[in-house]
Amino acid sequence: MKQTLFLLSLAFLSFSIAHGLNPNRCDLPNQGSTLQVFHVNSPCSPLRPPEAMSWEDTVLQLQEKDEARLQFLSSSLVAKKSVVPIASGRQILQSATYIVKVQIGTPSQSMFMAVDTSNDAAWVPCSGCVGCSSSVLFDSAKSTSFKSLDCQASQCTQVSNPKCGGNTCTFNMTYGGSNLLANLSQDTFTLATDPIPGYTFGCIQTTTGTSLPPQGLLGLSRGPLSLLSQAQSLYQSTFSYCLPNFRSTNFSGSLRLGPVGQPKKIKYTPLLKNPRRSSLYYVNLIGIRVGSKIVDIPPSALAFNATTGAGTIFDSGTVYTRLVEPVYVAVRDAFRKRIGGSATVTSLGGFDTCYTVPIVAPTMTFIFDGMNVTLPQDNLLIHSTAGTTTCLAMASAPNNVNSVLNVIASMQQQNHRLLFDVPNSRLGVAREQCSS
Ligand SMILES: *[C@@H]1O[C@H](CO)[C@@H](O)[C@H](O)[C@H]1NC(C)=O
Ligand SMILES: *[C@@H]1O[C@H](CO)[C@@H](O)[C@H](O)[C@H]1NC(C)=O
Ligand SMILES: *[C@@H]1O[C@H](CO)[C@@H](O)[C@H](O)[C@H]1NC(C)=O
Ligand SMILES: *[C@@H]1O[C@H](CO)[C@@H](O)[C@H](O)[C@H]1NC(C)=O
Ligand SMILES: *[C@@H]1O[C@H](CO)[C@@H](O)[C@H](O)[C@H]1NC(C)=O
Repeated sequence: MKQTLFLLSLAFLSFSIAHGLNPNRCDLPNQGSTLQVFHVNSPCSPLRPPEAMSWEDTVLQLQEKDEARLQFLSSSLVAKKSVVPIASGRQILQSATYIVKVQIGTPSQSMFMAVDTSNDAAWVPCSGCVGCSSSVLFDSAKSTSFKSLDCQASQCTQVSNPKCGGNTCTFNMTYGGSNLLANLSQDTFTLATDPIPGYTFGCIQTTTGTSLPPQGLLGLSRGPLSLLSQAQSLYQSTFSYCLPNFRSTNFSGSLRLGPVGQPKKIKYTPLLKNPRRSSLYYVNLIGIRVGSKIVDIPPSALAFNATTGAGTIFDSGTVYTRLVEPVYVAVRDAFRKRIGGSATVTSLGGFDTCYTVPIVAPTMTFIFDGMNVTLPQDNLLIHSTAGTTTCLAMASAPNNVNSVLNVIASMQQQNHRLLFDVPNSRLGVAREQCSS
């Protein structure tokens, strides 16, 4: 076992060296309204862990992060249900999964902010922050365009738990297992080549816990303080992204803001609105096909219900797709059946369908209202670097939270373009090889 782990680490390490930081690839010149998207562990990311982790550790760490994420996504689904900290021996150090470089202030300061499709607001760690993990902080004193918003500002009614600190509007909120307290502020955000003056964001003063993205978060959902609302005239509530596979040599994907340059040939499914969870991008998942066979799933397990929060969302912050238990079990059993009886099933962390012999996996098709998305093996399986273990990269929703939500996560979105067309209330998906 020790030897296997050592070999895995070695393979991961040599992988990291072989694909070392290439400044040209990491800092391509900005083009219009398109930003490079990096995986947090990519060589281009300043947030990558200092030491290459073994494959198993990477997988397990991302899984634990997901548990915190699922808690966060589900936390307000049940009234007054407190967020239970996850019992864990490992520290969750990274919460961001995909990051983009944002220039803030005048002159500008670069921050690598996490893109989060299930959050509205933006916030960054500010100078003097107590508890922030990042050494890179936004120094508002150095920006001539910075200002704090006072308690009478209309935006002060749009944040959670607003309070008056002096005459500054402050707010606090929970994110993952962390709390943050921030001053509501404004400054110029420059995204690729687009300056957005007076962008409202939280300047973090204090935080507890370790699950905040170190250099801040850029909310891409539909709420009043999201990028979509604040840059409505510029981007018309339209954006798309392609997430790169972090283990490939082509490390950056792209976040394309606004209607210009979006794919024309793309399949759509309607976006659903849940007034109680307005930040989440719900869609109608009708069924799942494994190979050519439609899995027998009770329709009630997939049904959208605004009251309970049940249904299916696309999320950029969760890594591995989570399905509510009856759905997951049915899909997993169909998958195992297709692999065949002779291969022994093992587990790894929260993945319960792993194989130590080579397998040929069936495709999986997510059947949405009006759109079928067939996932190839790269979106379904994770392989150890040494090639000895292969797992189905999905899991059952955790049973310690209100498990009503199916989450289509980033691993299953990689190398696809997802087009969020909010004015027409639809989500498009098309294959796109933005990394190999
Ligand atoms: C955050 O706001 C809530 C509600 O106003 C309050 O109970 C809590 O103490 C605040 N937390 C911090 C850290 O200020
Ligand atoms: C937040 O606002 C308070 C009151 O105006 C101020 O004392 C503090 O320095 C501000 N903190 C940050 C991080 O901007
Ligand atoms: C949603 O769930 C609630 C609570 O279980 C139930 O009473 C209601 O009938 C459901 N709504 C729909 C449209 O199924
Ligand atoms: C999706 O697949 C299902 C089942 O195979 C099929 O019945 C349906 O027509 C397909 N829908 C679209 C939009 O292609
Ligand atoms: C990297 O991406 C470029 C286009 O963006 C493509 O031409 C090239 O083949 C890719 N390299 C690999 C190794 O996949």
